[in-house]
Amino acid sequence: MTGMGVTGMAVDKDLAETLTGWRRHLHAHPEVSCQERETAAFVCARLTELGLPFVSDIGGHGVVATIRRGASNRSVGLRADMDALPILETTGAVHASTRHGVMHACGHDGHTASLLGAAVLMRDTSWSGTVQLVFQPAEEGGGGAKAMIADGLFERFPMERIYGYHNWPGLDAGTVAVHVGPVMAAGARIAIHVRGHAGHAALPHLSRDPMLASAHLLVALQSIVSRNVDPLDCAVVSICTMEAGTAPNQIPQDTVMRGTMRTLRTATRDAVEDGIRRVAAGIAQTFGMQIEVDIIHGMSVTANTPEDAEIASAAAAGAGLTVRRDLPPAMTGEDFSWFLQQRPGAFVWIGNGPADGGRELHNPNYDFTDAILPLAATYMASVAKRALGS
Ligand code: NI
Repeated sequence: MTGMGVTGMAVDKDLAETLTGWRRHLHAHPEVSCQERETAAFVCARLTELGLPFVSDIGGHGVVATIRRGASNRSVGLRADMDALPILETTGAVHASTRHGVMHACGHDGHTASLLGAAVLMRDTSWSGTVQLVFQPAEEGGGGAKAMIADGLFERFPMERIYGYHNWPGLDAGTVAVHVGPVMAAGARIAIHVRGHAGHAALPHLSRDPMLASAHLLVALQSIVSRNVDPLDCAVVSICTMEAGTAPNQIPQDTVMRGTMRTLRTATRDAVEDGIRRVAAGIAQTFGMQIEVDIIHGMSVTANTPEDAEIASAAAAGAGLTVRRDLPPAMTGEDFSWFLQQRPGAFVWIGNGPADGGRELHNPNYDFTDAILPLAATYMASVAKRALGS
């Protein structure tokens, strides 16, 4: 267990103060994907204090707690992610990470604390049905959602629909943004191996230069989004690393480029993938290289059904929160998409306030805004009750 100072029943404390304490404890003790052992133990300890039954070690360090009320056999899921990132924090906050090089730079500390807050708020008897509180590990590329699904999440903890949120820097604190359809993008990792023939830098005619071919490939890949994707659609192709060469007087044997592609529609995803393979094959032909393209699909599109977008909007408005319906989707990815492949639901953004001073997601100066904790908890409790028809 952890060494945190919050003991006793959360119910006896002011909710905002309690959630801030929990969030700051989690922030100070971050754990990266697949290593959320202490975080899960913290969640379990709070659930125990709240008197809620739970099951741990689901798909890794996942935890699911169950709240039942009344006679309704309807059920709904609420999800928060728990993992941190391998980033060195620079906030200088009193609750800054105590673990060098590990940081809650995406606000999953706040997501976890606010879902616990929803559990506090759902102790009332104003509703009927079953709510599954899903605390997910390994959201940051660790495949935590898929692991929980593979571990029988939806069979062991029945839920008809599922809801979640991500804090959103740049959106007014506490404002809830709801999308119909795509919210966040599908992502795939790209690895391109360009194999040439090494040789003396001064005898280029005796080698086949993978550096030159890679440079042309890097430029040509940027034609895919601009020339093969509908300008009114969205796609990203970013090559972010290139490894090549060890000596300034040698043409290297090969290069490796790695990057990512993001899309909002399956047809666009397929077109972009085809484009990458086609352009690579053309460059291979032009420069006499062997080029191997590996594209590994990760998160799929996070998309809300129209019905669930309405439930989310009504729940947020009913809870007195400002609702925005006019924001475009983001090209970032979200592991919650796997849950939405299994069940209908909605994923919303809740404003984290100004993004200045580096308070952006995955920035070393980012911090979750504690003031939105009770608002997020209220939204989560409200969306569950509304989805249950209570
Ligand atoms: Ni995140």
